[in-house]
Amino acid sequence: MSALRLSPHVATLLCRFVEEHTGIHYGEEILDLFVEKLSRRLALSGHESALDYYYFLRYDPGGRVELDALIDTLVVGETYLFREVDQLEVLCDQILAPAVARGERPRVWSAACATGEEPLTLAMLLDRRGLTGRVDLVASDISNAALDRARRGDLSRRAVRSTFPETYRHWLRTDTSGATHARPELVDTITFRRVNLAEPAEVKALGAFDAVICRNVLIYFSDATTRSVVTSLHDALVPGGFLLVGASESLLRLGTMLTCEERGGVFFYRKEVGS
Ligand SMILES: C[S@@+](CC[C@H](N)C(=O)[O-])C[C@H]1O[C@@H](n2cnc3c(N)ncnc32)[C@H](O)[C@@H]1O
Repeated sequence: MSALRLSPHVATLLCRFVEEHTGIHYGEEILDLFVEKLSRRLALSGHESALDYYYFLRYDPGGRVELDALIDTLVVGETYLFREVDQLEVLCDQILAPAVARGERPRVWSAACATGEEPLTLAMLLDRRGLTGRVDLVASDISNAALDRARRGDLSRRAVRSTFPETYRHWLRTDTSGATHARPELVDTITFRRVNLAEPAEVKALGAFDAVICRNVLIYFSDATTRSVVTSLHDALVPGGFLLVGASESLLRLGTMLTCEERGGVFFYRKEVGS
């Protein structure tokens, strides 16, 4: 099926349905992108029309599985090793290492980890500081396809960039096809789970964290969804816990119960100790 057979009305219905289930918001300016990606999935699904497809998603018992496949097609899994690493280094040095020194076992959650490069970076930084096995690392995403790759240690095509510090190269292996993989010993330090951030119950089921890393995903949500996701993340933090968002994702404009704090030149959002 080509994009031309998807009427604006049905495209809007599908777009709203996706937002209802994932929080991902397609504004007018990127609706074409949504239609292009959706058309790819429609062509594979075998439905006669986009409206049939919509009814299937909404009402058929098989709709849930198809929605997951559609989500895999729609999400932007752009990520790479050592992305915005300053924040992760400060997290290790000023928050996690002191907690371990106090005899604690901090829990950290990478909340939209795509193919795993973010938690893998943290795992490398923890290893360098002798903290492997002393910090619990949980990583999640909404995309099953991304998580399958993460669990296998299959890195995304552009995961290793010129900013990758060569001193960590021993954690990577390049196969005969040129694809890069993370060593299983590193991957095994991370527990991967499927979590939809727009579902508060799924967030709650993970338990409490000393730090939540939720970077470069809030930009895909509407303000209302971002507020609701940040409330779930706030609730998932222990009192005094930290939320890390992407450099372009300030929460101040939206109002939040978290306090913005600067540490080592980077910004964190902190849950009040008494809350
Ligand atoms: C651009 S990647 C960010 C990866 C990583 N955090 C980073 O900064 O490099 C965005 C990820 O958010 C995930 N995502 C989108 N909506 C989500 C939702 N409702 N719940 C959980 N993950 C979601 C996508 O599947 C994608 O893997």
